[in-house]
Amino acid sequence: MIKIDLHMHTGEDPYDGLRYTAVHLIDKAVELGFAAIAVTLHCKVLEDERVFDYARGKGLLLIRAVEWTFHGRDVLLYNITQRDADRLQSFDDLRAYRRERGDDLLVVAPHPWYPAGHSLGPELVRQIDVLDAIEYAQMHLSWFDRFNQRALAIAKKHCKPVIANSDAHNLWMFGRHYTLVEAEPTQASIFAAIRQGKVQLVSPPVTVRDCFRMLILEHFFLRKRGKVLTSFADQPSK
Ligand SMILES: [Fe+2]
Repeated sequence: MIKIDLHMHTGEDPYDGLRYTAVHLIDKAVELGFAAIAVTLHCKVLEDERVFDYARGKGLLLIRAVEWTFHGRDVLLYNITQRDADRLQSFDDLRAYRRERGDDLLVVAPHPWYPAGHSLGPELVRQIDVLDAIEYAQMHLSWFDRFNQRALAIAKKHCKPVIANSDAHNLWMFGRHYTLVEAEPTQASIFAAIRQGKVQLVSPPVTVRDCFRMLILEHFFLRKRGKVLTSFADQPSK
């Protein structure tokens, strides 16, 4: 089994104003023994090859990905370029693109029933045919996990695999929520294993203190909105 986390944000994200770069995240992923990760910026594909080379040099597979939005509803797309993502304006576009790309493309529904942000909500069922997997979100308490349970029920009904991710917007939460996959550390093998449900979820409950730190302290006081970081000083702006 290899350890993966396919939903994380970094300072390169145009919306979040986070205080660490993809390279910092890669260093931490290596330290924590991850085999593969994906940086899923909001509507922006991280494309600087130097970041991918850096990960490769450390023995980590960095999967090209994005957290894309269709009519205000988020979907995680893997193995995609910015150019291709820009062509996708609707779920029907995504459906056609899926047919074009086949198993090369992986599509995951992030935190689908969480009320905050841009979750799929009822679109989860309407668009279920275009999804490969559903995410078990990290933000759940030992005494409150209703949103994930709803997602799990839909996954079961529609025979969709479930993966756990951190949706990290900070380094301190990264490493607690992830998926163990029965796969080789290659993109094709990981995609196939996820589709076959050869996964084991690691997603312990967070604490109320964690929620306060994530949703109040970091969100309102520590992020630098509008500031975009780069992993390498002379990185061309996208
Ligand atoms: Fe996200």
